[in-house]
Formats: sequence, C-alpha cells, structure tokens
Amino acid sequence: MTLTIFGVSKNAIAAIGLLYLLIICENAQGTKYIVGGRIGWDLDPSVFHWPEGKHFKAGDVLIFKYSNPLYSVEQVNKTQFDSCYSDSNPIKTYDSGHDRVPIAKGTTYFICGVPDYCGYGMRIVINAAA
Ligand SMILES: *[C@@H]1O[C@H](CO)[C@@H](O)[C@H](O)[C@H]1NC(C)=O
Repeated sequence: MTLTIFGVSKNAIAAIGLLYLLIICENAQGTKYIVGGRIGWDLDPSVFHWPEGKHFKAGDVLIFKYSNPLYSVEQVNKTQFDSCYSDSNPIKTYDSGHDRVPIAKGTTYFICGVPDYCGYGMRIVINAAA
C-alpha cells in the first residue's frame, strides 16, 4: 500500500523535494549560457547582439564553443575591446574550444583573438548584476 498525504503519494513528494534541491543548487552555481546560442562563438555578426535582453548575474557561467584553433577568446579591457586589439596582453586568454568562463559583477569584455574577426562582430560586452 502506498502512503498518501492529501492524496499525493510519498514518492511524488520526495521527487518534488529532490527537484527543489536541484533548482537551489543550480541557482547557487549560476546560470550557464552558451555564447551565441545555437551559432556558438562564431564568425557571425549576430554574436555581437547575443547578450542583448539577457540578465546576467555574478557567478553565471559563459560557455564559449568554437572550433579550436580557428578562434580563441580573450577577456580584455574597454580600450582593447574598442580597438579589437589586445596587443598580446589580454586579461585572460581561452583557447580550449569549450571554455567555461564564470563572470564577475560589472562589465566584462570579450573579443576573438583574431583581430579581423573581432572587427567583424566576434566580440561581446557582458553586464552582470551582483
Ligand atoms: C588596457 O590594457 C592595456 C594593456 O595592458 C593597457 O595598456 C591599457 O592602459 C588598458 N586600458 C584600460 C582602460 O585599463
């Protein structure tokens, strides 16, 4: 015989409790975003607009997916972002082709390490709330 509480089985309640815990853990780790969505980190003008309308928070994780070594990801400052030129001196470089980048509060700038590709739109600005 299955024990029921208000007509809901104990197993269902346990399942809901587990789901609740999973959601809490997921929130604690932040939301994961695939940069560029379906297109990924690619030589496509839409990538520049990908962050628009999204509400990033500190602790969220950006996942840059691309074919390495064709592209790379450089975290840069505003000057470097505006000029599409890091002068081999970015804040950080990622080149695994599947890079997980946790974001901090504030504004973070990413460009493709290939200057011409950055100029074509392979660069994003992320604004993250606390
Ligand atoms: C950006 O980084 C470059 C290279 O390290 C540096 O020369 C420049 O002053 C920095 N600009 C800002 C606004 O921090």
